[in-house]
Amino acid sequence: MAKRGKWKSTLGFVLAAAGSAVGLGNIWRFPYVTGKNGGAVFLFFYILSVLFLGLVVMYAELSLGRATQKNPVGAFEKIKPSSPWKAVGFLGIFTGVGILSYYSVIAGWTLYYFYISSLGKFSGNLTQAQIDEIFSAFVSNPFLTISLLLVFIFLTSFIVSKGVSSGIERWTGILMPLLFLILLILSIYSLTLPGASEGLKFYLKPDFSKVNLKMILSAVGQAFFSLSLGMGAMITYGSYLSREDNLFSSGIEVVAFDTLVAFLAGIIIFPTVFTYGLSPQAGVPLVFKTLPFTFSRLPLGRLFGPLFFFLLAIAALTSTISLVEVATSYLVDERRIPRPRAAFLVGAVAFLLGIPSALSTSPGLFSRFAFGKSFLDLMDYLWANLSLPLGALLLSIFVGYVWGAEKAAVEIRFRKDRKFPGEDLWIYDIKYFVPLVLAVILLFAAFGSS
Ligand code: TRP
Repeated sequence: MAKRGKWKSTLGFVLAAAGSAVGLGNIWRFPYVTGKNGGAVFLFFYILSVLFLGLVVMYAELSLGRATQKNPVGAFEKIKPSSPWKAVGFLGIFTGVGILSYYSVIAGWTLYYFYISSLGKFSGNLTQAQIDEIFSAFVSNPFLTISLLLVFIFLTSFIVSKGVSSGIERWTGILMPLLFLILLILSIYSLTLPGASEGLKFYLKPDFSKVNLKMILSAVGQAFFSLSLGMGAMITYGSYLSREDNLFSSGIEVVAFDTLVAFLAGIIIFPTVFTYGLSPQAGVPLVFKTLPFTFSRLPLGRLFGPLFFFLLAIAALTSTISLVEVATSYLVDERRIPRPRAAFLVGAVAFLLGIPSALSTSPGLFSRFAFGKSFLDLMDYLWANLSLPLGALLLSIFVGYVWGAEKAAVEIRFRKDRKFPGEDLWIYDIKYFVPLVLAVILLFAAFGSS
């Protein structure tokens, strides 16, 4: 039997896991949900969610992975043999492929925007109508959206096919520092813009009169999605760690990195948006319609436009890698399928499932598929809003009660004879607070309005 993959270094793991976490969720979604939910108040609840829910579940997943040295299905099976719990592992695998299918469609858009902005298509004071027209013409071209989906998934499967250390670790080790560099350059530039102070005020000065339950729940949901929790990605990545790696500090590093990137994405976007008096509430099209408007006017827009979309593409790629890896690790561990074949098989399934999502932005069957939503929106709702919280809820119950929070806590410790900082709080949190909040989220997602 071939030896199971392993990270070469703890830093390699941290970059790979941060790569999974940092994605379209941080740079595309975080700013627009923050914008829609009143700016700074949302940021405040987001940070609380990251600390008291995200980090807690992150440790639960990583410890389960490292303790068992298995893919999600194998991990549940090893702790509780021949029980229905391994269904949670399967749920994670399906969720991963489901998310991969539509996430890669949007990732494909970033490639196109990188391409056309490099060609200078946004230079020369375009009107908002012209920019909207570029967007609609592109997304309603099925040949383009499907081809780009294929390119993106192929790239991802290719990297995953090369293995844990010589594929994932190697590539994320190159891409993440590059991403961070671009992020810093763009943030500094953004702070020099005339709209900076107005943008920062919106982003950083909370107006607590805007607090409501729905906003708080969407902050929690955003935290889980952004940290790649609830479908076994962190179980899988944790399973390639060894005893000598420090789980406690790596967990904090991954979470801190992810939060910092989301924060900086806001620093880039809000000053830019306010510089031309635009609305931060554009929603989904914020980075594809609002930002190009500013790039077409800003002095260095011709340079920073392509750089921004390149950043977005890198962030997406290091995330799709983890989505492919979960199902791949199952096929390799449990089904004895050679890694390259497994990685491309997972990619092929996600591609086929992604085609209707790629067609969702063209007029036709998939643009209004059911319940008044497009196929892509429906997939997002099903996998990100329902399946992820369900997976995280079951995982927290499993770790808290079936495996036992006390046992899991020992796995997180760096020295087995000494509690990690906050251990008692963590045990309480994973057993009571996390399941409670996730149950409320799930009830709202299933029966609430919106
Ligand atoms: N976290 C990524 C983002 O913010 C997306 C992602 C990758 C993800 N793997 C995941 C989300 C697993 C949930 C579960 O864009």
